[in-house]
Amino acid sequence: MKRSVLLTVNGERHEVLIEPNLTLLELLREGLNLKGAKEACGIGACGACTVLMDEKPVNACIVLALEAEGKEIETIEGLVKGNDLHPLQRSFIDHYSFQCGFCTPGTIMTAKAFLHRNPKPSRDEVKNGIAGNICRCTGYENIVDGILNAAKEI
Ligand code: FES
Ligand code: FES
Repeated sequence: MKRSVLLTVNGERHEVLIEPNLTLLELLREGLNLKGAKEACGIGACGACTVLMDEKPVNACIVLALEAEGKEIETIEGLVKGNDLHPLQRSFIDHYSFQCGFCTPGTIMTAKAFLHRNPKPSRDEVKNGIAGNICRCTGYENIVDGILNAAKEI
């Protein structure tokens, strides 16, 4: 039987009728047409689906949409203000921090929450901060550069 869920996504309130087993990732991508968060592993192991729930990173592929009841969800789409990219997005472009880009939305959302907790991190702290986000392309060094440079701006 379908259930009603009220949640806020990127500042907009939504009330949706969903199957109880729908994941938050399915709700975002299929229900709300927000395709930024990606499904790769589907088992909470790679971070490609990371979004913020009440400012904390979660793997949306293993969070039920029902668990988002009353929560504030932020996705990569919520970072752009008008025509202005978020400093992390700009810095990722400036430092070639992605290649295929599949991991990028999740990594940026993790980095955003990380920099909120630790605004002046060391290089090693950044590496630990994004340890749950797997990238198959970049070798990570440019991702770390992108985050460290965004930290200066933020
Ligand atoms: S797709 Fe969710 S953690 Fe990999
Ligand atoms: S840029 Fe391709 S997986 Fe990270």
